Amino acid sequence: MQGLLFSNDERVPPDPAEFESSAKMLAKLLNAEKECCKCRLAETRLNFVFGEGNPCADLVVIGEAPGADEDASGRPFVGRSGQLLDKILIAAGFQREEVFICNILKCRPPGNRNPLADEIECCIPLLHRQLQIVNPKIILILGKVAANTLFENNLSLGSMRGKVKKWKEYDCFITYHPAALLRNPNWKHGCWEDIQSMMRHYTEIAGQKNAP
Ligand code: URA
Repeated sequence: MQGLLFSNDERVPPDPAEFESSAKMLAKLLNAEKECCKCRLAETRLNFVFGEGNPCADLVVIGEAPGADEDASGRPFVGRSGQLLDKILIAAGFQREEVFICNILKCRPPGNRNPLADEIECCIPLLHRQLQIVNPKIILILGKVAANTLFENNLSLGSMRGKVKKWKEYDCFITYHPAALLRNPNWKHGCWEDIQSMMRHYTEIAGQKNAP
């Protein structure tokens, strides 16, 4: 993957007051939620994985749920999938620190099983609140499970990829989960096409990109 769609000198720094206000709201939200026991995952988690990144990010990345590395560290996408995600973001012209990265579930499902309906129901309001605070221009959703969960459907990834889809007020793009790309490197080409579509749309709606 290659090809930056923005150069560094096109970046517009976020308003410092807005940045500070969003950072404070996220910190307060984390503080209020980090001991969450709304579902059974509180009993098995090592760490609550809130998410991290630019509190005024133009791009929010949403995965499914923390895996073992994320559960151990308390940070999203830090294992092998995370390393690939960082490369995908760089190919799109973003440093990891410029975006906000989180998951639908904030606690690891044992054995990395799929999220259950009641776990999703408990966690979605927090995701929604995070999005209200960060207020991104665009959202990248990783994988079929995350996409099916947010859009409340059972469509194939193939039918949802590569085009803009509205979730609530947000413009979303869906692509392969990095873990799926690690298992099937042949899908990397399709992922890059999805990222290029997303960046074309982003250029149209944003014109310029916010620096961290
Ligand atoms: N897979 C996810 O969906 N999220 C993570 O944070 C790590 C792996």
